[in-house]
Amino acid sequence: MSKQEKSLFMTVLMTPDMANFSGHVHGGAILKLLDQVAYACAARYCKTYVVTVSLDQVIFREPIKVGELVAFSSNVNYVGTTSLEVGVKVVAENITTNTKRHVISCYFTMVSLGADGKPARAPELQLDSETERRLFEAGKMRKEMRQEIAARNKALHVGMPDR
Ligand SMILES: CC(C)(COP(=O)(O)OP(=O)(O)OC[C@H]1O[C@@H](n2cnc3c(N)ncnc32)[C@H](O)[C@@H]1OP(=O)(O)O)[C@@H](O)C(=O)NCCC(=O)NCCS
Repeated sequence: MSKQEKSLFMTVLMTPDMANFSGHVHGGAILKLLDQVAYACAARYCKTYVVTVSLDQVIFREPIKVGELVAFSSNVNYVGTTSLEVGVKVVAENITTNTKRHVISCYFTMVSLGADGKPARAPELQLDSETERRLFEAGKMRKEMRQEIAARNKALHVGMPDR
């Protein structure tokens, strides 16, 4: 069996065009990069087109600064039938001092699509280490938690006020 491509690493320099009104990096610029990394990681793993279904646990704990080098480490943690969880860890580095800060860890659910545009079976994940087995179990539990949160949110749904 050939070795699976499960991980993808990307670094991006934060340039002034990514800044928001306060001079730090715009959250939307980071979200776009996160989605690109998750897409590339999942599509390379599945060898198909994939779409983003959900994203959870994006917490901007501290601002990312213009001039920092931001590293995105992504990994296929869990594979269901057609969906997969891609975990992304983000580390920002001050390139003049080499100081690094772990700024975000989040989880994408991506779905593999077939040529007909419908969900298609994703390759079964080969678990080659104890860490990979633990990531898989954690991803499976998060999938169950997402389903539970979705059901509870549905029960809470009120809708928007009339305008
Ligand atoms: C992804 C999509 C094809 C799934 O369609 P669907 O009819 O819900 O398909 P299914 O019910 O068969 O679900 C497919 C998988 O998605 C998962 N899924 C569906 N809704 C989900 C949700 N809200 N959160 C997490 N996973 C979800 C299911 O658990 C299933 O995974 P599994 O096969 O591993 O068990 C459809 O929702 C879609 O096209 N969404 C838009 C995606 C997109 O365009 N993204 C970019 C946004 S601009």
